[in-house]
Amino acid sequence: MSVSLHRLKQEEAFAADVRAGLGREGQKTLPSKYFYDPRGSDLFEAITRLPEYGLTRADERVLLSHGREIVESIRGPLVVAELGSGSATKTRHILEAAARRGSLAYHPIEISPAALRESSQGLGDIPGLKITAHRAEYLEGLREVVARVPEGHRLLLLFLGSSIGNFAQEEAEIFLAEVRALLQMGDVLLLGTDLVKPVHRVVPAYDDEAGVTAAFNLNILARINRELGANFELDAFEHKVRYDVALQRVEMHLRSRRDQQVSIPGAGLTVGVLAGETIWTESSHKYRIQDVVDIAARSGFLCEQQWVDQEWPFAESLLRAC
Ligand code: AVJ
Repeated sequence: MSVSLHRLKQEEAFAADVRAGLGREGQKTLPSKYFYDPRGSDLFEAITRLPEYGLTRADERVLLSHGREIVESIRGPLVVAELGSGSATKTRHILEAAARRGSLAYHPIEISPAALRESSQGLGDIPGLKITAHRAEYLEGLREVVARVPEGHRLLLLFLGSSIGNFAQEEAEIFLAEVRALLQMGDVLLLGTDLVKPVHRVVPAYDDEAGVTAAFNLNILARINRELGANFELDAFEHKVRYDVALQRVEMHLRSRRDQQVSIPGAGLTVGVLAGETIWTESSHKYRIQDVVDIAARSGFLCEQQWVDQEWPFAESLLRAC
């Protein structure tokens, strides 16, 4: 497909999702994947360095301490792929361990072209690493990758950083089953999940002192202004975080400070928003160690091993396609 056609299709999908999420009755929503335009990806990188947001550092500590062990759990030649690779900073620990065996193919799958470009540059110094970037959604990219795994190679698929947390529990299970259907028996999924922790630790991670997460959240409205010609006034919304203990999830919302009308020409939409009404922009589900074992079993994987960070409850689980 030509680049400009691809662009057009993406713009249409964005407009359609905005129309569906903001044009509906009841709770307004926006899909969290639209956070990651160039500005949003930069803000997310800043989030990963916040003192309150221990998640990324925990993920990286586990990969640093157990990267070798993880790679050694796969015998024979392997190919590494990654869903939502982002900056791929922490992936280095896996890739370095895997590249010790000789040349290694790495397939980052990511919707942000800027992140793909930067991550490929950043990993360029690893000897023998051959990077093939896939600008695609998760399953679309994975389909491209599996078609290119050479005979006799196993796939090590990385899904790090608790990105799975954006799915509701039932959706996560369906997603993992879809991933499993694309894999061969014996392939490995390394799944990072943020674990359930006390409210006083989880909420500040999404409502930081410096206001970086608030800026990240509000950027989705700025993006709608930029790309769909809308007239959202960012000052008229505030960043709001809730934790639902029963559902084990953090919710991020944008709450309207007043009654307002917003026009979104690119989506063919005018929306009325009431004072106090919210637009729900993200859910981050937290897992218990056993939840991962169970969801894996229900979606065609065997959870062979789990590593948990001691400072910030976060688990890396090694799931074998069976
Ligand atoms: C990338 C989905 C794992 O939910 O913690 C960080 C995104 N949102 N702060 C998360 C996010 C607000 C992040 N994930």
